[in-house]
Amino acid sequence: MDKTFGKYRQLIDARLAEFLDEETKRSRYCNKSDKYPYSLFDPLNYIMSGGGKRVRPILVLLSCEAFGGNIQNALNAAIAVEILHNFTLVHDDIMDNANTRRGKETIHRKWDVNAAILVGDELIGLSYRSLLRTSSGNIEGVVRAFTDGVIEVCEGQALDKEFELSTDVSLNDYKIMIRKKTAELLRTSSVMGALIGDAGQSGIQAISEYSENIGLAFQIQDDLLDVIADEGEFGKKIGGDILERKKTFLYLRALEILSGSRKDEFLFLYNTAGEPNAKIREVVKIYNEICVVESARKEIEEYTGKANKTLEGLPNDNARKLLLSFSDMLLNRSY
Ligand code: IPE
Ligand code: IPE
Ligand code: MG
Ligand code: MG
Ligand code: MG
Repeated sequence: MDKTFGKYRQLIDARLAEFLDEETKRSRYCNKSDKYPYSLFDPLNYIMSGGGKRVRPILVLLSCEAFGGNIQNALNAAIAVEILHNFTLVHDDIMDNANTRRGKETIHRKWDVNAAILVGDELIGLSYRSLLRTSSGNIEGVVRAFTDGVIEVCEGQALDKEFELSTDVSLNDYKIMIRKKTAELLRTSSVMGALIGDAGQSGIQAISEYSENIGLAFQIQDDLLDVIADEGEFGKKIGGDILERKKTFLYLRALEILSGSRKDEFLFLYNTAGEPNAKIREVVKIYNEICVVESARKEIEEYTGKANKTLEGLPNDNARKLLLSFSDMLLNRSY
């Protein structure tokens, strides 16, 4: 990832390690008669130390800084979003039957589904515990934004699962779904950062629009990477969306382009079980033939451009440049 954000990553990782160490340290239990819950903390520490791009907490810090705020004041909120994000990943992997995440076995595979459910639940609790350590004149607004984010992700995930069973999903339905499951948490991150940085109403509006559009681009790119990424680098199975019949941008665009019997054949291929590797190969072949990969790239660039335009009103030149390079880093990511 881009060196520009190394400083932010370091701050985030250090605070995260400190917080988790405090929360899961064995001495908390040794002094009491309580037993140490290894079955919870082992998989919890496993997912939390497994890397990740830290996109959302970086966005919290950048958005705070954009309005002249001190990023130290936003660190607890930043790691709260990262902890929450990790909850969504652990539960998402159960829902998506995913065996690998960040290049490692998923929790429900390495341990079991019960462990993964509980790790997710605990992560929500821990995320609030960290969030509530934020000192801000508008802590109520910060907690409200965060809570809205939690609810939106759950609703988006429900739509994502419902769409697996449907052959009647439009690109508009898809946009509603990805706004909820992905873009909202990026929006939440930047609104929280801006609130902690004491931004005014118009600033919050601008940064909120920015991150929502960046979030939409981010999910379309995740869909694209599911097809074109290098599996080792991506850390997730290539074609996982195809096997789960996910109604991705590429699938929906393909349906717009195809017609007649080719469309019927594609619909059947995608929505019927088949030999996994052959199915992925066939679907990707069609995607390449009809240029949906290019179409997805164009869409990602359009949303990123739209996001960047909203930054024009930001008063701080340096902050605008940082956010523009954040957009750039996301646009050029390969995992
Ligand atoms: C994956 O998020 C889930 C999506 C919303 C696409 P990230 O791509 O941010 O995952 P990590 O944290 O970097 O692993
Ligand atoms: C993720 O969507 C959205 C979440 C809320 C986690 P995906 O299911 O596409 O995310 P990945 O590809 O598994 O990371
Ligand atoms: Mg999913
Ligand atoms: Mg998934
Ligand atoms: Mg995905």
